[in-house]
Amino acid sequence: MSGHTLPDLPYAYDALEPYISRQIMELHHKKHHQTYVNALNAAEQAYAKASTPKERIALQSALKFNGGGHINHSLFWKNLAGSKSEGKGNGGVLPEGPLKQAITEAFGSLDNLKKEFNTTTAGIQGSGWGWLGLNPTTKRLEISTTSNQDPLLTLVPIIGVDIWEHAFYLQYLNVKVDYLNAIWNVINFEEAEKRFTEALSGSKL
Ligand SMILES: [Fe+2]
Repeated sequence: MSGHTLPDLPYAYDALEPYISRQIMELHHKKHHQTYVNALNAAEQAYAKASTPKERIALQSALKFNGGGHINHSLFWKNLAGSKSEGKGNGGVLPEGPLKQAITEAFGSLDNLKKEFNTTTAGIQGSGWGWLGLNPTTKRLEISTTSNQDPLLTLVPIIGVDIWEHAFYLQYLNVKVDYLNAIWNVINFEEAEKRFTEALSGSKL
């Protein structure tokens, strides 16, 4: 078994400044995400060697936690881009197109989406993730949250935001809402639109 590996970031560690500091990005990617990858590989290797149902059941929570951690962080890095307002990329800019149309249809405007998303995710108790996802049945965008490192399974993920303290504490301390307001400046809406159109075409459903 070749195992899972830590994906490279698609930008430099300081690319998201001033909204997310280099220090946070380095620790988050090199230490936190790497730990999920290592633990997922260990759990999968143990699972392959397990010979009884009891041994396999005992590994379920480690597979879910670390597998979810690897899936979610891999999505998250691609969700982000240097901000347009800082001249570092196209982060924070929602272009005209199908995603903007769907956001307007579901929420009225991008500002309303941000408000609803921030209110919902600020209410997560403990650690978790905030999501903008596509409902595969209604084909509409919805806001959702998951606990711990649970991956989003009921919707196709379009944008995911890490709401663990490790994602913001070194810069924003306990003020989660400041982190939530800041992150919209570095959301990669081009990546989000790519996921959205792929999901609509059925390739990820
Ligand atoms: Fe994280």
